[in-house]
Amino acid sequence: MFIKSKGQILSPYLITKFPSHPELKNDLIALIEETKSAKPLTVAVNTVSKCDYDWSKDIERPYFKKLVPSLGKHLTDVYKHLGFGNCNIKNLWFQRYINNDIHDWHVHGDCQWTAVYYLELPKEESLRTQVIQPFDQKSKIDMPVEEGDILIFPSHALHRGPRNKTSKRKIIISFNMDGITLDGQYPEDYKTN
Ligand SMILES: [Fe+2]
Repeated sequence: MFIKSKGQILSPYLITKFPSHPELKNDLIALIEETKSAKPLTVAVNTVSKCDYDWSKDIERPYFKKLVPSLGKHLTDVYKHLGFGNCNIKNLWFQRYINNDIHDWHVHGDCQWTAVYYLELPKEESLRTQVIQPFDQKSKIDMPVEEGDILIFPSHALHRGPRNKTSKRKIIISFNMDGITLDGQYPEDYKTN
């Protein structure tokens, strides 16, 4: 047997309420609907009717400009609860799911953390993001999210946006991040002399 040892390094996920959601929701949806630089995602079993992932590093998009000032402030607070001083958003995109749309199991690369902001989320539990525990690749977490929440989890964890079997629209804004460490955040006992 070539494996000498296997253990767990636990990593958190966080669901937070985005305080700016009520004031931003309608404007963001309108800007997303007007976005021309978007196209359907159609890879393998995935079908998402409108998505701008190919433009995810474009910081001139109107909805990006609208969202990022308050999102950045919120994330500065949130990352303290993940053990970091702050974060660096590496790219950001939207996905609009209508009936039968799905983004099946996948992971995100070139980042430590990924996030989903539920801009428009009907009440049906079947529309919630599902994440698989990386340690055993079996246990599934149905994330207890609501509209206006932001879910953050390690980007190597398999996850999916389940097939939308409803006639309702779901819109998410997803983004990838790296954590930023700050001097003094380490436990006292482990400081280098
Ligand atoms: Fe994803």
